[in-house]
Amino acid sequence: MANKEMVRVEKLNKAFGELHVLKNVDLRVEESNVVVLIGASGSGKSTLLRCLNFLEFKDDGRIFIEGEQVEKETHNLNEIRQRVGMVFQHFNLFPHKTVLENVIEAPIIVKRTPKNNAIEEGKALLNKVGLGDKYDAYPSTLSGGQKQRVAIARSLAMKPEVMLFDEPTSALDPELVGEVLTTMKELADEGMTMVVVTHEMGFAREVGDWVMYMHDGKIVEYGRPQELFDHPKEQRTKEFLGSIL
Ligand SMILES: Nc1ncnc2c1ncn2[C@@H]1O[C@H](COP(=O)(O)OP(=O)(O)OP(=O)(O)O)[C@@H](O)[C@H]1O
Ligand SMILES: [Mg+2]
Repeated sequence: MANKEMVRVEKLNKAFGELHVLKNVDLRVEESNVVVLIGASGSGKSTLLRCLNFLEFKDDGRIFIEGEQVEKETHNLNEIRQRVGMVFQHFNLFPHKTVLENVIEAPIIVKRTPKNNAIEEGKALLNKVGLGDKYDAYPSTLSGGQKQRVAIARSLAMKPEVMLFDEPTSALDPELVGEVLTTMKELADEGMTMVVVTHEMGFAREVGDWVMYMHDGKIVEYGRPQELFDHPKEQRTKEFLGSIL
């Protein structure tokens, strides 16, 4: 039996003025799968993720979330963004709030979760990402890796069905990358459906169910990590892998 489909994109197009950034992009993500998106700078990876949680609006094409076609005109986009969470390269934590306050803010304000429940869930999430001793710390006192783990906990606090990660480790010092990737791997092992833009090929190989190579707004090649990394079919994929590996 096929797995449940969480995200499907059909013939997605997006331009910024004259610049055609996404060109007939198709994508399907099944439940509990991790799809890793790779490609050169400017190839459209962030734009694709941003279209998926409606931070950016497609020009045409169709986006389905759990089988339901979503359009900005007909859907409550805040609700969609709760279901499709996103973690960014720069963590965007509230500097004047503690770690725990950062995590409980959206559940209380947006979901109207009772404060006590939000605190209980927030603490559990912080324990899960290894920050059980940092509830009352302010973001400025944390390392980049710790901040990113707070950002992941904050996103999880909304109980998303799909998580999008846009280069979550590329702003980190090399020694802090591992702890964030470990948190993401644990999330994947628990069955979270994820789309991850990353240059961490070790992570892509180990955790990715699928890898998608994007070039100039198009999906050039899509496959299992082993196939795509060891036996790329397309010349462009070979060149890209040659340039980064
Ligand atoms: N808001 C915007 N307005 C105009 N052009 C944009 C905008 N956002 C992105 N672009 C352009 O669209 C193209 C794709 O950008 P995008 O950020 O999706 O690339 P990317 O693959 O994520 O690159 P990187 O690896 O550098 O993050 C780039 O040429 C970029 O300059
Ligand atoms: Mg990007």
